[in-house]
Amino acid sequence: MKLTVVGGGSTYTPELIDGFARLRDTLPIEELVLVDPAAGRLELVGGLARRIFARQGHPGTITTTQDLDAGVDGADAVLLQLRVGGQAAREQDETWPLECDCVGQETTGAGGLAKALRTVPVVLDIAERVRRTNPGAWIIDFTNPVGIVTRALLQAGHKAVGLCNVAIGFQRKFARMLNVAPGDVHLDHVGLNHLTWETGVRLGGPEGENVLPRLLSEHGDAIAADLHLPRQIIDRLGAVPSYYLRYFYAHDEVVRELRTKPSRAAEVAAMEKQLLEMYGDPALDEKPELLARRGGAFYSEAAVDLAASLLGGGGSPYQVVNTYNDGTLPFLPDDAVIEVQAAVGPEGATPLPVPRLDPLYAGLVAHVTAYEDLALDAALRGGRDRVFKALLAHPLVGQYEYAEGLTDRLIAHNREHLAWA
Ligand code: G6P
Ligand code: MN
Repeated sequence: MKLTVVGGGSTYTPELIDGFARLRDTLPIEELVLVDPAAGRLELVGGLARRIFARQGHPGTITTTQDLDAGVDGADAVLLQLRVGGQAAREQDETWPLECDCVGQETTGAGGLAKALRTVPVVLDIAERVRRTNPGAWIIDFTNPVGIVTRALLQAGHKAVGLCNVAIGFQRKFARMLNVAPGDVHLDHVGLNHLTWETGVRLGGPEGENVLPRLLSEHGDAIAADLHLPRQIIDRLGAVPSYYLRYFYAHDEVVRELRTKPSRAAEVAAMEKQLLEMYGDPALDEKPELLARRGGAFYSEAAVDLAASLLGGGGSPYQVVNTYNDGTLPFLPDDAVIEVQAAVGPEGATPLPVPRLDPLYAGLVAHVTAYEDLALDAALRGGRDRVFKALLAHPLVGQYEYAEGLTDRLIAHNREHLAWA
């Protein structure tokens, strides 16, 4: 089995490699290729990746290349984990929306739109090249914003599934609280990427006992504290929102907070500098502790699970992924991309049925889906008007004055990445 990681020079990659090494029985990789345009990073990350495989006795080979076409040749699956414009562009996404009293975040609100506009054309170009060299390969998309990027890939007819670590993070956390194995925890997970709620936590599988009420009564304080939301709001929902919901439920509070501290991009850039120095140390042969301070915990395990199932091996039968709605949430178009539990196998992902969604969630999901629709249109066709419409449709923007100000700033800060601007 051959796997290719596009964006393989990411400082996140050792997390992935560590998962591949530990879970080699589930996903027997023979050849792993790390593709990245940044030669320096590729060498540092590639070196550590090989040492991690060696230390753990993994027989697979790891190669690195800057040549995408060569890298994806013969791959069974291609993982996309790139960041167009790097942390510098992210820093912008997190900063200028604040000038308009809107949240500055890399996937939510106006910053998320900027990221989508920069990213969709690049990912589609990569996917096209994968298809040309290698039409059978599965594309696993980690590249944010995952919902919009996955929809772009699926609409262009690619064999793609979108993936995020939020669900697996909750699964692992709840398993610890319940004192059971992670595989025994089945989440009723519903919504869009970075706009989800756990409406049930079941033991054993989709038909298992729902222990969410017990979990909330015994561990509600800890769950709320992790999300930086008041316990009360979680109790009143009777569901656990993802931490991205804080940008909606506590929008103004977050804006005030963000104004007083350095951006996440700045924090991450400092960590990356340190990480790359560590990766250059030939004595280091495991993923460093510092990596745990990044947001991507467990993403390697989600990737192994998904790739194993798509490639016909032994991944979990149900996994939380991003895929076409196809009637699962009847109030959304069939071609909207949702994030839910799905049966996953060599034919792809098929969402499990979802009970009627409470209007408390359905309203926001429908609203953000409409935004994502317009965001994708803006990413594919460009133009100030389309950017403006997407922002006007976003529930965190909504007013024309904000949408105008944000549109101007988005274009000004992203000109070099936008072919039409
Ligand atoms: C979570 C999200 C990812 C996001 C990451 C950011 O893992 O699911 O989509 O990329 O956080 O983490 P960072 O360490 O870059 O802030
Ligand atoms: Mn994510």
